[in-house]
Amino acid sequence: MNFAIEVQDLTKHYEDVTAVDHINFEVKNGEIFGFLGPNGAGKTTTIRILTGLIKPDVGKASVANHDILRNPIEAKQRIGVVPEVSNAYIDLSAWENLTLIGKLYGVPKSKLHENATELLKEFGLYEVKNKLVRGFSKGMKQKLLLCMALVNDPEVLFLDEPTSGLDVESARLLREKITQFNKEGKAVFLSTHNMEEANQLCHRIAIINHGRIAAIDTPENLRIQSMELQYIEVLFNKPVDLQIFSENPNISKASFAGNKLRISTANPSAVIEFLADFAKQNGIQILSLNTLMPSLEDVFIKLIKEKEAALK
Ligand SMILES: Nc1ncnc2c1ncn2[C@@H]1O[C@H](COP(=O)(O)OP(=O)(O)OP(=O)(O)O)[C@@H](O)[C@H]1O
Ligand SMILES: [Mg+2]
Repeated sequence: MNFAIEVQDLTKHYEDVTAVDHINFEVKNGEIFGFLGPNGAGKTTTIRILTGLIKPDVGKASVANHDILRNPIEAKQRIGVVPEVSNAYIDLSAWENLTLIGKLYGVPKSKLHENATELLKEFGLYEVKNKLVRGFSKGMKQKLLLCMALVNDPEVLFLDEPTSGLDVESARLLREKITQFNKEGKAVFLSTHNMEEANQLCHRIAIINHGRIAAIDTPENLRIQSMELQYIEVLFNKPVDLQIFSENPNISKASFAGNKLRISTANPSAVIEFLADFAKQNGIQILSLNTLMPSLEDVFIKLIKEKEAALK
């Protein structure tokens, strides 16, 4: 099987920091792959290596079936990048930025003009195409960066926290465009520390911390792996004593969230049975009861904590 991105043992040191620590993963063709991690996790360093800006100390990688160290030009021609820090020249117009980057990628002139026009229209920037980027809002700049990343019809799109600092509407537009690009069967590598974004957009997510990958799976499977993080919220018609619940072996934690009792458990059905018996025996009514799956954020915190404990 051919992969859009293949990474083997990739490692990068900066003095005493190991920014990327022997990571391995593959991104399938047509997949949106999320790279989810806190500040300093190694997301940008990985993207910089994969897009040919810096060289790894150890390991190898290929993008669109081209080895990034042996065939960097072929690899770069097939990718689009929205970097963490804007690569648009603020003293040039949107149009000039697009044509400049298109020329760097070797896009033929007529194709370049066609692509640039289409992209600017799609992102609502056509009217301001001759204005200097200096006067653009953050959202307009970010849309332009995505246009710049797409002007060479890339096979693989890299985005480094593309929606960071954007308002809800602009972030939604960017996500829509990323999904649209992916619907054409192309792969996307997206770094983010926004769980909800990863959950909404990504087919699979790698969780990275301190340069190491803690887990790679679908958002759904990551949640299932963390079943002990499930919880039940129950509302009784009378106040209850917390201690009764804390003592139950199926309950890992019981607390009040407002007037509801919140119970963490790996075994919701046993707890529901217990709650029903408890209510019956004490003449109490259950007004509402919900079983909730862990959020991606719960999973993320758990995995990161486990990895940190293993390193100690
Ligand atoms: N050019 C550099 N020189 C020295 N250290 C660096 C350099 N670039 C990154 N690092 C270090 O490598 C580690 C990983 O940084 P990186 O920028 O890849 O993280 P990140 O996951 O992108 O974080 P953020 O979410 O804050 O953007 C950090 O400890 C950082 O300080
Ligand atoms: Mg970063």
